[in-house]
Amino acid sequence: MIRYAVIALVMVTGALPVQAEEGAAPGLGESIYRANCASCHDTGEVGAPRIGDRQAWKARIAEGRRMQVRMAIRGIRKMPPRGGNPDLSDREVEAAVVYLLNQSGARFKP
Ligand code: HEC
Repeated sequence: MIRYAVIALVMVTGALPVQAEEGAAPGLGESIYRANCASCHDTGEVGAPRIGDRQAWKARIAEGRRMQVRMAIRGIRKMPPRGGNPDLSDREVEAAVVYLLNQSGARFKP
């Protein structure tokens, strides 16, 4: 429903409202991302794929949301489990992953 409203709005105004992809908990994924993930994923530190780099994320997004969340929880190579913060719940890691992927070409529900 919200998605249709956004599409209708885009057709009328020709502009995307800011944060159009954010749903039930506005800003949760972004704030978790900022606090725990941005140090690597904003900068490309230790070879992390950068947020917004669609080319770098394309194949990862194609693996699907669940797989990406699982890797973020477990860690992979230089990516530490839960971004190095063991206090994050699975739900919080997922919110950050979805934020990161949606900034990089995906269209997952928050
Ligand atoms: C210490 C640096 C660092 C931090 C902090 C970090 N990442 Fe990563 N992340 C990486 C690196 C490096 C990779 C690339 C891993 C690879 O594929 O070799 C990666 C890859 C990923 C991937 C893709 C996994 C794949 O398929 O390769 C996701 C999703 C991800 N990070 C999410 C997050 C989230 C969410 C957070 C915060 C909770 C976070 N990262 C924090 C370094 C980091």
